Amino acid sequence: MDAPDAIIPKPVSVTKGSGAFKLTGDTKIILVGDQPELASLARHLAGKIGPLTGFNFVTVKGTGNEGKGNIYLRLDANTAELGDEGYTLKVDGEMASLAANKPAGLFRGIQTVIQLLPASAEGGNWSIPAVGISDHPLYGYRGSMLDVSRHFFSVADVKRYIDLIAAYKMNVLHLHLSDDQGWRIEIKSWPKLTEIGGSSEVGGAKGGFYTQDEYRDIVNYAAERYITIVPEIDMPGHTNAALASYPELNCNDTATKIYTGTEVGFSTLCVNKDITYKFIDDVIRELAAMTPGPYIHIGGDESHATKKEDYVTFMNKVQPIVTKYGKTVVGWDEIANATLEPNTIVQFWADEGNSLTAVQKGAKVIMSPAKKAYLDMQYDSTTKLGLHWAAYIEVDSAYAWDPASYVKGISRDNILGIEAPLWSETIVTMDDIEYMVFPRLPGLAEVGWTPAGARNWEEYRKRLATHGPRMKASGVDYYPSKKVDWK
Ligand code: ACM
Repeated sequence: MDAPDAIIPKPVSVTKGSGAFKLTGDTKIILVGDQPELASLARHLAGKIGPLTGFNFVTVKGTGNEGKGNIYLRLDANTAELGDEGYTLKVDGEMASLAANKPAGLFRGIQTVIQLLPASAEGGNWSIPAVGISDHPLYGYRGSMLDVSRHFFSVADVKRYIDLIAAYKMNVLHLHLSDDQGWRIEIKSWPKLTEIGGSSEVGGAKGGFYTQDEYRDIVNYAAERYITIVPEIDMPGHTNAALASYPELNCNDTATKIYTGTEVGFSTLCVNKDITYKFIDDVIRELAAMTPGPYIHIGGDESHATKKEDYVTFMNKVQPIVTKYGKTVVGWDEIANATLEPNTIVQFWADEGNSLTAVQKGAKVIMSPAKKAYLDMQYDSTTKLGLHWAAYIEVDSAYAWDPASYVKGISRDNILGIEAPLWSETIVTMDDIEYMVFPRLPGLAEVGWTPAGARNWEEYRKRLATHGPRMKASGVDYYPSKKVDWK
């Protein structure tokens, strides 16, 4: 299959030309424009294709008229109709020109350039086939979630995960930072959250947490890849780690024990105490101050230990705390049972009724149906990692669905985008992450990027097959599904 036919996510428009542009040791990356972001975009491209090809790509500013033999990166207002993440790419026998209205568009286009190069090249023939591409995403929110609470993952693991999702043009990483089994973010005004609540994880190992500096480092690393971090503090349920750290957050003023199992639905903050809202205010204030992105996720799922009326009272009090600190609330679909702040976003995962209620209340929805998008669901009954309470999700099933017709009554206009969560009850190592996430994530990235009418599994599976060598070259320990004739 020719490289332009194998791009994931599938671009909006691809016109193949004849010939190819051969990279050499003399190829320069030429930046056309004065915007400071161009230099780091060029470094990103050189940092990917330099080690791949063995060439040392020099980066220089130019006018765009330096002629053949070069790769041009250009911010160009003429591409504004392609939006903030759209780009055009023109490759002929002599040069490659990437143009976008915004730096994020150039970053997405760079991923296309990388995919147009072979995963390895016999005899050092590193050529980009002649092609014209015009491309932009269907949805503005295309993300994955990493549960760093059930098992803790290092800053290095999170950065690797960011790189892996960036290659498929995702633009959000949601970090599930707190749950019954662990509190993973330093909160200076409540230090025992990490001292006690961060000291364990599922299975009883030592857990861990991110200092505020480490979290900022993750945020910056993501931002350089035009990825927004969405931090989640799950509440009022899924809070045992906090309840074990501070007795006063419990209605009976007694700290709970550290929890290392995998049950859900047994914990709740004490909804009727003032200290609960002081606690939440402090946590959200510190979190908002280190989160440049627009969203703070307040969880709200499976609060089975909270009375229904208490849940509504609680969510009605917590949402304004988030908006007071300048952030937009995101919550799991149960939050639709509360009065929603004007901009609150509801993340559909299980309950279609909740999600319909959200839409009727005017909320936008993130589509994360557990039966399609949950990356911790096993591929089939032989998968050794993961769970299957929602479904077994083979690679074709994760791909073959349309967010805009999945729930009757929720259509394109109601949908902010899609997110593929990885819960980590059974996920311990980076290899475990990779095995569950790949090769489903590229397909889910395409669900978010490419219009449903331009997608079908039989065509996609042939494209995905060509990404086997790419994943191998990146050291990605993927599940070799029998549904795909791997190259
Ligand atoms: C969830 O899976 N409890 C959101």
